[in-house]
Amino acid sequence: MIHLKNEKQINGIRTSCKMLSAMYRELIPLVKPGITTLELDKWVRQWIQKAGGKPAFLGYGPKRNPYPAAICISINDEVIHGIPSKRKIISGDLVSLDCGIELDGFISDQAVTVEAGTVSEPLHHLNTVTKECLYHGIEAAKAGERLLKISHAVYNHASQYGYGVVYDYSGHGVGFALHEDPSVPNAPHGANPRISAGLVIAIEPMINMGKAEIFHAKDGWTVMTADGKPSAHWEHTIAIFADHTEILSDRL
Ligand code: MF3
Ligand code: CO
Repeated sequence: MIHLKNEKQINGIRTSCKMLSAMYRELIPLVKPGITTLELDKWVRQWIQKAGGKPAFLGYGPKRNPYPAAICISINDEVIHGIPSKRKIISGDLVSLDCGIELDGFISDQAVTVEAGTVSEPLHHLNTVTKECLYHGIEAAKAGERLLKISHAVYNHASQYGYGVVYDYSGHGVGFALHEDPSVPNAPHGANPRISAGLVIAIEPMINMGKAEIFHAKDGWTVMTADGKPSAHWEHTIAIFADHTEILSDRL
């Protein structure tokens, strides 16, 4: 069931999104060769706590294997849900950061892919196109249109370059919970409801340099490309109004 949000509720989600984006503006410059992903997670936990929010991802998921960190950090052939560890970032890494904050009961969700040190031209191109996919998707998200118009926009842009569009994971409704209806796939499939005012969704293209297929690492969380080629991920939380669409998180 889709929970549409009223103006007051969207204001709450926006405030949560602004906090999350402010966190990213300080975090991104720290994503440099030599730092471990665990150090970044520790920094994120402290930042969110000081700001008065709660990490929305920490403890999320099944009781037998809840997500153990505040942020997902996915490097190169890790697509999403990479768990912070002692792994050091090195120059040339494509580092996807994905984080959410709960503030006064309102949840935000945003992801960005950072190029650590100097990355190769093909990696930079993948990252650029993935970010473009996000904005093409947002462009298609208008009251009165069908939801899968977003998916077509993302899919067509990435396909043009021969990239694989991950279809096993999707964007989603967000705001009261981290994952709400509707599912917002990046490759068109499934339910196709009309987009209406009050809809708040996270659009999050996950684009692979090679094939779209993925597998899960032994930790039960990390999603990897099946062919070992790199992947990028960008995400915004957006709100639909009758006459316009607002990106609630800030551009990074
Ligand atoms: N942005 C991701 C998503 O929407 C984050 C979920 S990570 C989790 O699926 F750990 F919280 F599950
Ligand atoms: Co999300």
